[in-house]
Amino acid sequence: MTVAALAGCTKADFVGTPVRLRAPLGLPAPPPGAPAAAVALGKKLFFSPSLSVDGSLACAGCHQPGNGFADPRPHSPGVNGGRGNRNAPSVWNAAYWSSQFWDGRAASLEEQAAGPMMNPVEMGHSSRGVVAAVKANPEFRQMMAAAYGDETVTLERITKAIAAYEKTLLRGNSPFDRFLFGGDKTALSEEAQRGLGLFRNKARCALCHTLAADHALLTDQKFHNLGVGMDPAGNLPDPGRFNVTGREADRGAFRTPSLRNIAETAPYMHDGSLKSLKEVVDFYVGGGNANPQLDPLLQPLTSFTRQERTDLVAFLESLTGEAVAVP
Ligand code: HEC
Ligand code: HEC
Repeated sequence: MTVAALAGCTKADFVGTPVRLRAPLGLPAPPPGAPAAAVALGKKLFFSPSLSVDGSLACAGCHQPGNGFADPRPHSPGVNGGRGNRNAPSVWNAAYWSSQFWDGRAASLEEQAAGPMMNPVEMGHSSRGVVAAVKANPEFRQMMAAAYGDETVTLERITKAIAAYEKTLLRGNSPFDRFLFGGDKTALSEEAQRGLGLFRNKARCALCHTLAADHALLTDQKFHNLGVGMDPAGNLPDPGRFNVTGREADRGAFRTPSLRNIAETAPYMHDGSLKSLKEVVDFYVGGGNANPQLDPLLQPLTSFTRQERTDLVAFLESLTGEAVAVP
C-alpha cells in the first residue's frame, strides 16, 4: 500500500507560516521550510523510540547527532538484533539530495522516512503499528493538531513531519567554505590549502565530489562503482544501484556521498569498511578495486607522496561546518 492510500481522505497539509530557511555559506538555496509546529513534531518523532516495534529504537539511534547524524558502527543493529549490510549515512544536508539511500531507491525524504519504520532489520514496525503508537501518546496528538490543524494521525502526516525536520538540518560555513566562498584566506592551514588543490586536480576527487562557482555539495549525486566491499573471491556482494535499475552497468555502484562534516562520520563507504580518512585516501591512491564495472574516472594516483596524503586528509578535515539555527 502506498503512503497516499494509507492517508485516506485526511489532509496532510501543514497549517501556519513556513519558517524561512537560509543557506549557510557554501550551500545553495535550500528547499522551502515548513511551519515551526511541523518541524517540532518531526524532531520529536525523529528522536522517539515509539516508532519502532518494541519501543527501543529511534531514528536517532542509528543517525546519531554526536556522530554527524550517522552511525559509528559499520552496520547498525536493528530492533530484533538483525543487521543490514550498509552504513547509516549522515542526514545533515539531506534536503539537497535528488535521491535518498546509497542506491538512490527513494526519491524524496518524505518517501524515505517510511522505509526504516517498516524495515524488519531496522525498526521492524507495521504502518498500522506506527500510527497506533503515535496516536496513543497525548503529546504527539497535540503536536499533530498544531502542525496539521487536527489530531488525526496518519503515516503520511508522520513521514511529512519527519522530512520537514530533516530539511532544517543544514550545515555549511566550514573553514573550507570561509576560505573558498567567504574570501578568508586565513581559514585554511597551508596543508589543507594544498589538499584542496590536490582534491580539485591531481587526486581527481572533484570529478565526482563536485564544487560549483558559489557553493559546493561535494557530490555529483550520481552512482559510481569503486569496487568497495570486494570479498576475497573478487566479488562485490552488494549489487547497489543495480537493484534499482536492473542495468548491469550499475552493478556495485553507489551514490557519491557529500563529504561535508566527513571527519565526524567514520566509518566510511556504503558498507562502513574503511575506518579512517587516511584509509580512504590510501584506497583512492590504489585506484579502487578492479572489477568489470569499475568507474573509469577512478585512476590509481601514481607518485602520490606521503605529504600529499596528509594534505588531502587535512583538507577533508576542513569540511566540518556549523549548524544553522532554525528560526
Ligand atoms: C537500524 C538503524 C537505522 C534506523 C533506526 C534508521 N535508519 Fe536511516 N538509514 C540507516 C541505514 C543503514 C541507511 C542506509 C541504507 C541504504 O542506503 O540502503 C539509512 C538511510 C537513511 C537516509 C538516507 C540518507 C542518504 O544520504 O541517502 C535517511 C534520510 C534516513 N536514513 C533517515 C531515517 C529516519 C527518518 C529514520 C526514522 C524513521 C531512520 N532513518 C531510522 C539506518 C537506520
Ligand atoms: C568516480 C567518482 C569518485 C571519485 C573520483 C572519488 N570519489 Fe569518493 N566516493 C565516490 C563514491 C561513489 C563513494 C561511495 C562508494 C561506496 O561506498 O561504494 C565515495 C565515498 C567517499 C568517501 C566516504 C564517504 C562516506 O560518507 O562514507 C570519502 C571520504 C571520499 N569518497 C573521498 C574521496 C577523495 C578524497 C577522493 C579523491 C582522492 C575521491 N573521493 C574520489 C565517488 C568518487
